[in-house]
Amino acid sequence: MHGGNDDPAPRRREDDALYDSLSLIIDSLDNLHGLDKHDFLGHAFEAAFGLIPEAQKGSLYELQDDRYVPVFCRGYDMAVLSRISFAGDEAFIDFAVDEDGRIAASETRITGRDPLKFPARTMDAFRELGTLSGFSSLYAPIRVDGRTCGLISLEKFGEGGFTRLSRKVLQYYARLISEFYAQRLFQERQTMLYKDVVGSLVSAIDVLDRYTEGHGKRVSDLSRLLARELGLGARETEAVATAGLLHDVGKLGIPSEILRKPGRLSPSEYEVMKRHPGHSARILGAIRGFEDITTMALRHHERWDGGGYPDGLAGEAIPLGAQIIQVADSLDAMTSTRSYRPARGWDEAMAEVGACSGGQFHPAVAAAALALDGIPDGRGT
Ligand SMILES: [Fe+2]
Ligand SMILES: [Fe+2]
Repeated sequence: MHGGNDDPAPRRREDDALYDSLSLIIDSLDNLHGLDKHDFLGHAFEAAFGLIPEAQKGSLYELQDDRYVPVFCRGYDMAVLSRISFAGDEAFIDFAVDEDGRIAASETRITGRDPLKFPARTMDAFRELGTLSGFSSLYAPIRVDGRTCGLISLEKFGEGGFTRLSRKVLQYYARLISEFYAQRLFQERQTMLYKDVVGSLVSAIDVLDRYTEGHGKRVSDLSRLLARELGLGARETEAVATAGLLHDVGKLGIPSEILRKPGRLSPSEYEVMKRHPGHSARILGAIRGFEDITTMALRHHERWDGGGYPDGLAGEAIPLGAQIIQVADSLDAMTSTRSYRPARGWDEAMAEVGACSGGQFHPAVAAAALALDGIPDGRGT
């Protein structure tokens, strides 16, 4: 027997509508790539209004130092809303989780605010915002690793609440947003970790090799200028600058009596020294996302005319980023004092770059160097 008056048609219509909303969700997620966690939440919040048509106003709270504070809103005065924050351990948010601990959307009807429950300044803020009574609030948490770290709250004023479909859509949306947010946090932690690792590698080279102290930073800055001059995009430019910073990290693998030897290296010592780009590539190649940077570091001593190392690549076979670092590296080396020779002046070094265009240097990169406006900061004349 089956329930005779259980008409499946309305349910199917709701499923269709849910399906449509989910496609909208997926579309909205497409626009969230490459944003940092703050902008990600902002876009995710705005997209929620496209998914829940009844929502008239809303806010997004983020957990900061154990308090939930509003970071985005629509339809409210942010200055007033900012006066409402609440402690992270206030329990009601945890109601927004179902029996299995999965994110659920909840709805409450606000018919009045109990002045005994809220401080006077919060009551004042409610009054100014028009949220003392007469509206429905649909909310869902953003949770990472089982902990609530944000809250999306959407309001519909006047009679009637949100549809069942909207509750479902917000629920799925909050679950997806949480997954993406978790990924974003993970990436940010990774990036911070990279930066720490990169920073310690750079200072380790500086300690090992006092003659080239600050070399990575200067090559990085100069590489960035050259990349811009050559019209590279922002992302590529930063990759070149990072590779410039780290290109010599493999010197950590060179015996210090060779690395720190005062005076010129013997041919056999030079052969050992020539292994440093390979060492750099092995160190940097272990970092996920550093593939291009690794290649640039590996190739920074290859020459346009094929006379470089480790593999004697020539011309366009050498990645452009590596050729940029090659020029920046040489400029910095020429204008820095070495134990066996004094520093050359900037103009003299530039003349050398011009003379070696098409030989050691990629002609376009050499031209970009010659087109640089003056001497980059932090260099002697
Ligand atoms: Fe090098
Ligand atoms: Fe170098």
